Amino acid sequence: MKLLTIETTCDETAAAVVTDRLEVLSSVVASQDRLHERFGGVVPEIASRAHLERILPVIDEALRRAGIGLADLDAVAVATTPGLAGSLLVGLMAAKTIALLQRIPLVAVNHLQAHIYACRIASGEDVFPCVGLIVSGGHTALYRCQSPLDFHMLGCTIDDAAGEAFDKVASMLNLGYPGGPAVQRAAAAGKPQAYPLPRPFLDDPDRLDFSFSGLKTAVRYQIVGPGKHDFRSLQLQPQQVADLAASFQEAVVDCLVGKSLQALQRTGFRTLCVGGGVAANQRLRQRLSEEADRQGFRLFLAPLALATDNAVMGAIAIERLKAGLVEPLDIEVSPGPLRA
Ligand code: KG4
Ligand code: ZN
Repeated sequence: MKLLTIETTCDETAAAVVTDRLEVLSSVVASQDRLHERFGGVVPEIASRAHLERILPVIDEALRRAGIGLADLDAVAVATTPGLAGSLLVGLMAAKTIALLQRIPLVAVNHLQAHIYACRIASGEDVFPCVGLIVSGGHTALYRCQSPLDFHMLGCTIDDAAGEAFDKVASMLNLGYPGGPAVQRAAAAGKPQAYPLPRPFLDDPDRLDFSFSGLKTAVRYQIVGPGKHDFRSLQLQPQQVADLAASFQEAVVDCLVGKSLQALQRTGFRTLCVGGGVAANQRLRQRLSEEADRQGFRLFLAPLALATDNAVMGAIAIERLKAGLVEPLDIEVSPGPLRA
């Protein structure tokens, strides 16, 4: 059985062809990073217009690389939640059109659940039941994942997502966009304990939430005081930038690692799966690996290509298809809260 998966929740236009045995026949990702770079973040209207231009070539290319045509597809899946409304709509319209023309089932994918499922595909192992940590530019949340069809949120950020905080701190330190990789690079030459920064909720195991807004402000106060500032005109010393980047990264990683351990404790599960763009962070990967070795739980980190937005992780649709969970053609997008 061959399934086409489509992903347009934010600023990546992606399509993949996967089989019901979770073989990846093709994967195409058209990134829009360069379009949004000069704004320091994703501009929704630019994102949806770019999706419109790219969606058909991206689908064509995914089919071509898989060596198949539309007529060979047995189902089509698309991420319908959460995301930017205009971006989601482009993917959903393309998927509906293919489902209608080819008379094949349409499967809806939850983008956050798909981020966790990336670990299932990459490892080839049955990762469920597990605790799922999703840590991206739009989301930071912990899930109790009983099965690929049963996800329950344990906690999430009450303000900024971790990736968003990386992007904003990178912008304050003039490190460019996207900020995560830039902060990671700068942090390599810095001291993680150089600046005392907050770790909200870390000492409270009853609360599996995150907060990164205060941390971002704390970094800002180490550079300048309150009020408006033109960060581009600041002359920071390279060592100061490196120390701030390292201290900030360490604070974020402490929170992500600490809360994940508390979630494992609460659920009694012995497996942790981590997905989303920030899962690419080397310091986070290293710290989680150390804890897994020390505490003896199974750790699955989405590999870099499957950690950031992609369509391969939409293979979670196979699980839904097998359970008979297909959608009517009048299904709508569910953008969800702006922050989750
Ligand atoms: O999952 P993703 O590709 O897009 C969504 O937000 O859904 O995640 C992008 C985020 C950006 O905020 C980016 O700065 C962050 O992931 N990121 C990183 C790293 N690579 C990407 N953050 C920290 N360290 C990294 N190496
Ligand atoms: Zn994502």
